Amino acid sequence: AAGNGEAAPADRPALPDEIAELTDLSNREDPYPYLGKLRERSPYRPFENLVVVGRHAQISAVLRDPAMSAARHRAASSPTPHGPRTRNFLHLDPPEHTRYRRLVAGAFARRKVGNLAPRIREIALELFRGASETGTLEIIDDLAYPLPLRVICELLGVPFEDRPLLQNWSATLSTALEPPLGPSAGRMTPDAARARASFVVYFQKLIEERRAAPQDDLISHLLGVEEDGQRLDDHDILATCVLLLNAGHETTVNLIGNAVLALLRHPEQFDRLRADAALAPAAVEEVLRYDAPVQMTTRVVRQDGRLGDTDLRAGDTVLLLLGAAGRDPDVYPDPDRFDIGREHAAPHLAFSAGPHFCLGAGLARLEVAIALELFGALLVRPRLRPGGTAYKRNLNLRGPASLLVDVDGVR
Ligand code: HEM
Repeated sequence: AAGNGEAAPADRPALPDEIAELTDLSNREDPYPYLGKLRERSPYRPFENLVVVGRHAQISAVLRDPAMSAARHRAASSPTPHGPRTRNFLHLDPPEHTRYRRLVAGAFARRKVGNLAPRIREIALELFRGASETGTLEIIDDLAYPLPLRVICELLGVPFEDRPLLQNWSATLSTALEPPLGPSAGRMTPDAARARASFVVYFQKLIEERRAAPQDDLISHLLGVEEDGQRLDDHDILATCVLLLNAGHETTVNLIGNAVLALLRHPEQFDRLRADAALAPAAVEEVLRYDAPVQMTTRVVRQDGRLGDTDLRAGDTVLLLLGAAGRDPDVYPDPDRFDIGREHAAPHLAFSAGPHFCLGAGLARLEVAIALELFGALLVRPRLRPGGTAYKRNLNLRGPASLLVDVDGVR
């Protein structure tokens, strides 16, 4: 976690109040007042090499600016300034990013996302039915984790029995994605490094198996894609598998958790959804705006420039508060109100924007819309168990760690 109560080491200044409030674990439940303060000051330079950006228009511009690099290892503050830890395309810039992403998108497109709806529904139904015998659901363990994990594993071609392993590694690795705000942020913990190594060994073996005997799964398609004589090498495929599994899983878990919480805390909105299941996709968009599962991302300044009234210097890390953008009153009137019928004047930034716009947005939207529709249709009188909600420690990948919901039955 980023700086929670840990003493600042001698080589870094103490956290300024605005940052300390945000990173304080006791504010996980509702970070939005603190994100709001940072948005008002944005762009804001709390440390030598860091600029914090929280306004929707500014973030949107930075994400589309070719002067901003996604190669995080180039940051002046990077613990590994000489090379990327991984070569997955989340950390590449055009034109290399464009080539790599196009190949992966090509493999992804062979399994049309819309065609997955019946299978996603089947999995979700099975999970709801299996979980409800006791009159209580633990939304995270019973639904939010297994649904996207099963979907991405089936897409990739990961055998059923290996899922618990992957779930474990994925959760451990996600703790390494914390923003560069606290003393230990941006460095991989030994646990996360071990989890990454386990992923690599695991997928190496699976890639070998698929090369010998291709199937209709994403790993086989990744091995087969070719465009203008370009192919993905084994290293690229490996990094992509880890990225897809991790990016495509933890994030969706949190979106389901954040959505269930928002709906049960706003019963009038939940009633609207139950009266009209066609509102499920709009409810998903509103949750993405209101309580983003990925709260932050970063870019590195390539060359000196300016953002608003702030100078940017080459090597600066720009921290983009995607979660703060969703509550920006310049874009969303009455931004703290959760309203699934809201017209969005500008697209939310929860899936980023520009060249790195989330490759799995369509899949995530579909999975969560189906989950919410069934949640509304199947459960009789679902309600939050008082004291039954606890947040994860993560500041960036934000969501409940546990979420107990009492029900009177399942239809
Ligand atoms: C990129 C969010 C689900 C695969 C991103 C980025 C964000 C994001 C914010 C860009 C970060 C940046 O610009 O630095 C989310 C959220 C999800 C979700 C909130 C669920 C609610 C998924 C799923 C998959 C996926 C289901 C795949 C199965 C990817 C990939 C990238 C990406 C491959 C890298 C794209 C690139 O660099 O060109 N996602 N994601 N994501 N996401 Fe997602």
